[in-house]
Amino acid sequence: MPDPFRLFGPVLRCLEPESAHNLTLRALELGLAGGGGAKSDPILATNCWGRAFPNPIGLAAGFDKDARVFKAMLALGFGFVETGTVTPLPQHGNPKPRVFRLVDDAAVINRLGFNNQGLEAAARRLAARTGDGLVGANIGRNKDSTDAVADYVAGLKVMAPLADYIVVNISSPNTPGLRDLHAIDNLRPLLEALIAARQGLSGAASVCPICLKIAPDLADEDAVEVAHLALDLGLDGLTISNTTVVRPDDLVSRHRDEAGGLSGRPLFARSTALLSHVYRETAGRLPLIGVGGVASAQDAYAKIRAGATLVQLYTGLVYGGPRLIRRIDEGLADLLRQDGFKTAADAVGADHA
Ligand SMILES: Cc1cc2nc3c(=O)[nH]c(=O)nc-3n(C[C@H](O)[C@H](O)[C@H](O)COP(=O)(O)O)c2cc1C
Repeated sequence: MPDPFRLFGPVLRCLEPESAHNLTLRALELGLAGGGGAKSDPILATNCWGRAFPNPIGLAAGFDKDARVFKAMLALGFGFVETGTVTPLPQHGNPKPRVFRLVDDAAVINRLGFNNQGLEAAARRLAARTGDGLVGANIGRNKDSTDAVADYVAGLKVMAPLADYIVVNISSPNTPGLRDLHAIDNLRPLLEALIAARQGLSGAASVCPICLKIAPDLADEDAVEVAHLALDLGLDGLTISNTTVVRPDDLVSRHRDEAGGLSGRPLFARSTALLSHVYRETAGRLPLIGVGGVASAQDAYAKIRAGATLVQLYTGLVYGGPRLIRRIDEGLADLLRQDGFKTAADAVGADHA
C-alpha cells in the first residue's frame, strides 16, 4: 500500500494546524493511515510496572485526547499510546487559533486548554478496546472546577479499570492555576487522595500504575522534591516533561511570542537535563517517562541513557510524519547493538554508570 503520508503530509502542513490535526484523526479513524504487520525488533522489548512493552517509544498525551485513534497509532509502530488529557466534563478549551507551528524551529506552541469530550466519551471507547497494545489515560481537571482533587479522583476511578496506566497531568500551562499543584503542600493531598482512591478500587484497577507529569520549568531541586514525595507515597513513575512556557532566545519563527506551551526541538535539552537530574537524585528507583523534543533515534536513545525507561513524542510526528515511528524503532535497535546492549532496559540510565 502506498504511504498516504507521502501524499497528504505536504497538504496537511498547508492547513491551519488544528484543522490538519482533526483531518488526521478522521483519516486514522477511517483506517487510511496504513501501518500494521511489522513487529518490533526484540531488542526493544522492555518491561515496566509488570507490563511488557514491545518497544519503549510511545505517543505522548494530547494527540489522541478522546481515545479515538489509539489502535491506529499502535499499528503504526508505537509501543504504547497515552490518551487524554481528559477532564471529567467535556469542555471546548481556549478560543482559536490556539496551535501554532514554528516550522524553522521544529517546534509547536499550543494553548488548547484541555479541549476534550469528557471522561464518559473516552471511557466508552477504551471499554471497547480489544486488548492489543498498551494504552495509558492522562487525566486533568476542568477549567471551572472548584475542586481539583475531586476531578482527578473521578478521572482515576473511571480510567484505572480501563487503562494500562494513569498519568496525573498537573503541568499543562494552559489551565490557570494548574501548575500550582507542583507545590508540595498542594501536591501531597492530591497524591494521597489518588492513592487512597486506587486502594478502594477492585481487581487490577487497585494496582493500576499512577504517574505524575511535571513541567520542565520547575527548578531541578523542586523536581527532586516532587520525585521523593512520589516515592514516599508509592506513586509509580514521573513523566518528564510537559511543554515549556520559556522561550529560548534562539527561536526564529514568527509565532515565537504566542502564549502557550512550547514543544519540539527547543524543549529537548531542558527536558532531558531535568530527566537526568531526577534519575540521578532518585538513584533510578522511580520509573521515568522521557518526553520533549524527540525527533530521531538518537534523541530517543539519549533520553534512555539519561534515565528514561519509556520515551514519548508528539511534535516530532508533526514534522516527521508517521514513518518517523518505525525509523526511530529501527535506529534505536541499531544504536543499542552498536553499544553492546542486549535490551533497551539495559541502557536505562547508562550515562550515570
Ligand atoms: C498540540 C499539543 C497538545 C498537547 N496536549 C497535551 C495534553 O492534553 N496533555 C498532556 O499531558 N500533554 C499535552 N501535550 C504535551 C505533550 O504530551 C508533550 O509532553 C510535549 O509536547 C513535549 O513532547 P514533544 O516535544 O515530543 O511534543 C500537548 C502537546 C501538543 C504539541
